[in-house]
Amino acid sequence: MNEVLDLVKRHEQWRERECINLIPSENVMSPAVRSLLSSDLGHRYTSRDGFYMGTRFTDEIEEYGEKIAMEVFRSDTADLRPLSGHIADLIFLASFTKPKDTILCVSPDNGGYPGIWAQALPGYLRLRTVGFPFSKETMSIKIGEATDLILEEKPKMVIFGASLILFPHPVEELAKVTREVNAHVGYDGSHVLGLIAGEEFQNPLREGASALFGSTHKSFFGPQGGIILADEEHGEVIKRGIFPAFVDNAHWNRIAALSLALAEMKKYGKRYAEQVVRNAQALAKALAEYDFPATCPGLGYTRSHQVFLDYGGYKQGRVIAQKLEGANIIADCGVRLGVCETTRKGMREEEMERIAELMKRVIVDREDPSQVKEDATKLAQEHQEIRYCFS
Ligand SMILES: Cc1ncc(COP(=O)(O)O)c(C=O)c1O
Repeated sequence: MNEVLDLVKRHEQWRERECINLIPSENVMSPAVRSLLSSDLGHRYTSRDGFYMGTRFTDEIEEYGEKIAMEVFRSDTADLRPLSGHIADLIFLASFTKPKDTILCVSPDNGGYPGIWAQALPGYLRLRTVGFPFSKETMSIKIGEATDLILEEKPKMVIFGASLILFPHPVEELAKVTREVNAHVGYDGSHVLGLIAGEEFQNPLREGASALFGSTHKSFFGPQGGIILADEEHGEVIKRGIFPAFVDNAHWNRIAALSLALAEMKKYGKRYAEQVVRNAQALAKALAEYDFPATCPGLGYTRSHQVFLDYGGYKQGRVIAQKLEGANIIADCGVRLGVCETTRKGMREEEMERIAELMKRVIVDREDPSQVKEDATKLAQEHQEIRYCFS
């Protein structure tokens, strides 16, 4: 067998069938959605200027996908072409700012996405980044101080949303003052998109944001990629500019897969998102009972798909995450835990308690991870069927 085929096979055996996957940026597609990624669409080109022939079905798929996205997110416009959440961020930033403008967002040390910070996209676009005043106690933006800052800085753009996000952001509370200073209001929903679709988290478009954008593969269970949902005014500008500036071939196999995932979300999203939040809360509570440093106990730990174990930084977090990996429990070095994949594989509160117990054996009891691995693998193997999808 070719080496690559062998490596993929071994990867799938391990990560798909033997691990308990708790990375909050990840999820799993249904078999039907996944199969569309290897369809003929993955070989084809289409472009808005009609240059390519043979696109009659591709065009219909795109139209279907946009229509269903607008229904699911209750938006005026939808664009499925951004190739990733990062590119969706770029499109929004570049479409409504010019060099030297100031943007306000959550800084990376408070859980904000490093891609929207000084050295990354804003740096290339020559934008100045300012961080929201933020409370680590409550993991939330400080509304009063943020209001003053917006009035003082008069930013061109305010972006809500973050990579570490436990609770809704105060979009409604800050949208009015943001508009008063003529700033564009965006929400990077990369992490919470599936919860927004399932109506289990704030819908920023209903709270005063002009655009909601981000990844389609974190709490949203689509293929890896990006999406932009927007009001009429912003959506039009984005649609006009996206091709040829930011995306040429939009990867139509991905768009077909995303369209089907949107249809799954429309039908099953509410039940899925409710269970995700219940599972995250159950996992956090069980871990806290074993003295793991789960944040925000007074606030019920979380209202999203994430649990935050605050070990004080990546260095200490890495030690924890490495030990867990030895037991086939996969987390990041944050240490953020996400329950989307386990939920999609049918796990509920009871299984969250089992996961917490496995983690306790590794981290608190300091049992050899390779001994715990057997039980973790067994739990993973018991839950292989993907739920909340068309059969
Ligand atoms: C808040 C946020 N926005 C954007 C991204 C980038 O998404 P993608 O990996 O789809 O480019 C991430 C990545 O994790 C993220 O956390």
